Amino acid sequence: MARMMPGNKFLEGPFAPIQMECDALDLVVEGEIPSDLSGTFYRNGPNPRFAPRGDYNWFEGDGMLHAFHIENQKVNYRNRWARTAKFYIEEKLGRNAINPMNPFDCEPEFSDFALTDKQGAANTAAVWHADRLLLLEEGHLPFEVDPVTLESKGSWTYGGKLGTAMTAHPKVDPVTGELIFFAYMATGPFVNTIALYKVSPQGLLTEQHIIETPYPAMVHDFVVTENYILFPIMPLTGDLERAMLGKPPFAWEPDRGASIAVLPRNGTAADVRWLEMDLCFVFHYMNGYDADGRITVDGCQFERPPLFPNPDGSANKLTESHLHRWTIDMNSPDGRVVSEQIDENQSEFPQVDPRFAMRAYRHGFYTSPDGKVKGKLGPDPDGALFNSICHFDHQTQSSTRYSFGNAITSEAIVVPKEGTVSEGDAYLLSVVTDLEANASSLHIFDALAVGDGPVAIAHLSHRVPAGFHGAWKPLPGR
Ligand SMILES: [Fe+2]
Repeated sequence: MARMMPGNKFLEGPFAPIQMECDALDLVVEGEIPSDLSGTFYRNGPNPRFAPRGDYNWFEGDGMLHAFHIENQKVNYRNRWARTAKFYIEEKLGRNAINPMNPFDCEPEFSDFALTDKQGAANTAAVWHADRLLLLEEGHLPFEVDPVTLESKGSWTYGGKLGTAMTAHPKVDPVTGELIFFAYMATGPFVNTIALYKVSPQGLLTEQHIIETPYPAMVHDFVVTENYILFPIMPLTGDLERAMLGKPPFAWEPDRGASIAVLPRNGTAADVRWLEMDLCFVFHYMNGYDADGRITVDGCQFERPPLFPNPDGSANKLTESHLHRWTIDMNSPDGRVVSEQIDENQSEFPQVDPRFAMRAYRHGFYTSPDGKVKGKLGPDPDGALFNSICHFDHQTQSSTRYSFGNAITSEAIVVPKEGTVSEGDAYLLSVVTDLEANASSLHIFDALAVGDGPVAIAHLSHRVPAGFHGAWKPLPGR
């Protein structure tokens, strides 16, 4: 008999896991699904199958993939758990036994499993590249699922060439078709190395480089421009000894400082140049580009990371993230990162038109709170429930907001309109959860007219738990 979920804000309200897998055909639609939008929108997120053994961290729940298939102006929905090695073990036991983020927080006979497992929770993101759909969770190998049935296929290793994790934020170059990704702590648990990989448009892993970092850091995202690859290293550190003492395996250590590794796109580890930067924390970058040796990076910058403790286990005060622009002059011998806040709104989950990734661009999109979320749980105590999508115009330095009111939104994915080439000639897709109805819906916006509200809403009769990232797979031939 499965136990009740314990009290924990990431197991309640919009975060609470659902206990079913289903297919829902021809969803009821308000408005009209655009006729030039055909493909599948995937959302990934943690959805623990069983109540956790101890404290629950949002990042540890079993991955569940939600797919909205759009074709001929109809929407079909399907959701499935990622059937990882951990999932199978626990399904057989009928209880949670493994914390994929902390081998010392497992039932003792599974500590070794947690140290050597290659599949993890597959719960953070998804990427469609070279005809494969991969679920990503930065501590483990990518996990392949069938793009239509969502059936689990297991770890994908690029024919045995990949032995490490893949970041949840690999980058697809829209011009070359290449996939560039990395793994942190690449040469062993809590080791100060990053592995950089390149995959050809055909799906062949062609390059691997190992870069030493100043300390073992959790690196969630990175930046690729037309001519450079950048790894910002901020002191969210991993420490095996600390974990063995029962303290947090990952913690914020500001005294260790921040710096950034910059290497040419065609370079190797020997070409890395380390530049200084002021202490800050960024989970997600909006985009980056370069011209004449000057690199521009936009990201949602925090003072310190949310959701991660201090080394002694005490909680960190929550801070807000705002869009910042970093400039780096590679022509200067003492170049460093210069960071400037460019927007007033609290922001996270930044996105761009994928055709303009790595290149000069004008339009960015992000999620944001406007403080109006209440729902059955009462007012949102941390202001952490994001109920708006914003369009930020870098040219006018202004933002346009659409608020869902008492509903929360997922990261909004930008999907180019078929047959178009202009930046922003696209739709924005997001899963929105109404906190009163306790149900979710797919919202589709005209990307450059977010303020006008959605052009179509496809309704589910159940809730998609708050998750992390998504992906888009166009219909073949589109
Ligand atoms: Fe992320």
